[in-house]
Amino acid sequence: MELKGKRIALGVTGGIAAYKAAELVRLLVKQGASVQVAMTEAATHFVTPTTFQALSGNRVFTDQWDSGVANSMAHIQLSRDADVLLIAPASADFLAKAANGIADNLLTTLTLARDCPLLVAPAMNRQMWTNPATQRNMATLLGDNVTVLGPASGEQACGEIGDGRMLEPEEILAEVIAHFQPKLLKGRSVLMTAGPTFEAIDPVRGITNLSSGKMGFAIARAAREAGANVTLVCGPVSQPTPRGITRIDVTSALEMHAEVLKRAANQDVFIGVAAVADYRPKIVAGQKTKKDGAPPPVIELVQNPDILADVAALPQPPLCVGFAAETQNLAEYAEKKRRAKKIPLIVGNLIQDGFGGDDNTLILFDDGGQQPLTPAPKLELARQLTARIAFLLENPNAPH
Ligand code: C5P
Repeated sequence: MELKGKRIALGVTGGIAAYKAAELVRLLVKQGASVQVAMTEAATHFVTPTTFQALSGNRVFTDQWDSGVANSMAHIQLSRDADVLLIAPASADFLAKAANGIADNLLTTLTLARDCPLLVAPAMNRQMWTNPATQRNMATLLGDNVTVLGPASGEQACGEIGDGRMLEPEEILAEVIAHFQPKLLKGRSVLMTAGPTFEAIDPVRGITNLSSGKMGFAIARAAREAGANVTLVCGPVSQPTPRGITRIDVTSALEMHAEVLKRAANQDVFIGVAAVADYRPKIVAGQKTKKDGAPPPVIELVQNPDILADVAALPQPPLCVGFAAETQNLAEYAEKKRRAKKIPLIVGNLIQDGFGGDDNTLILFDDGGQQPLTPAPKLELARQLTARIAFLLENPNAPH
């Protein structure tokens, strides 16, 4: 219930993507939001108001001069009651009007009369999107602090391929949820690692660690929701990339080390969430090794570089945060790691509490001692960790 108690006014304009707005309403309601839909006349040619009424459980507004609304002021009513006005899909025509303060129908009028933030999800043909007039209007809207969600690139209803597709309903939902998160890391840059590394023995075999990447990806999402510019270097995982994040895929610890060290100097924060393999085979066979009745091979290992310790040892290191996943003696091992790597904050968890699952139990260790977080979904814990990091950035010398 990420949107519990939130009031969302959803404006639907005329475009084929209007059918996706129906799914969006369902997702918003499922997350606890109350949704009031207003449609342009053109939108009603694509989806009927009845559909939105059934999905939102609320009356749908289509007419500025609705006699059923006190004083015929539907626009004022809708903008007064909303925490956010979301237009999805937003047509080129709507965006042009919104950019120029035109109020000639219910939707444009309530946009102009609103007292809440405006989020728009453009949807149009690629030619309309790249038209200088539309781009000019988008620049105006951005300058007016309107949040623009997308558009995505891909195949369009007209058969053409290019920019202008509306974001998928799930993506818009994630952006709406992000909108309501406090911008504790606004303007900050966060570099992270996540997932396991894979150390090749030969072209088909290797040594790895168990790691789903879920905790790391949740932290990347939470940091981005908090307004940070996030770069995530990750080993082999099958997690979908949260929107708005720069993702760099690597396989081995050496690759991860190289990609991180290339970028670490200019970051505000580095968070090492990856389960980096401590060792790698000294020799990687060029061909698949065969049994052929030979005795089992002995694989000589060499130590991998410690990415986190190397970042922390930079002349002007970012704020470094590490993870300690243990099966026992969590407090002792976590604190030992924190001192050995010379980092201000380490996040400890017992492997049996969180591995692979959606929930976790975390304890934060810093100069002030340990602070257990209540067991919760990984995204919720990631948001608490983000808040802690924001506090440390603001108060570098505070006894935590
Ligand atoms: O040294 P250990 O693996 O116990 O410490 C775990 C922490 O150090 C994690 O934050 C992990 O991402 C980081 N680490 C690293 N490079 C390594 C080993 C661990 O960045 N080679």
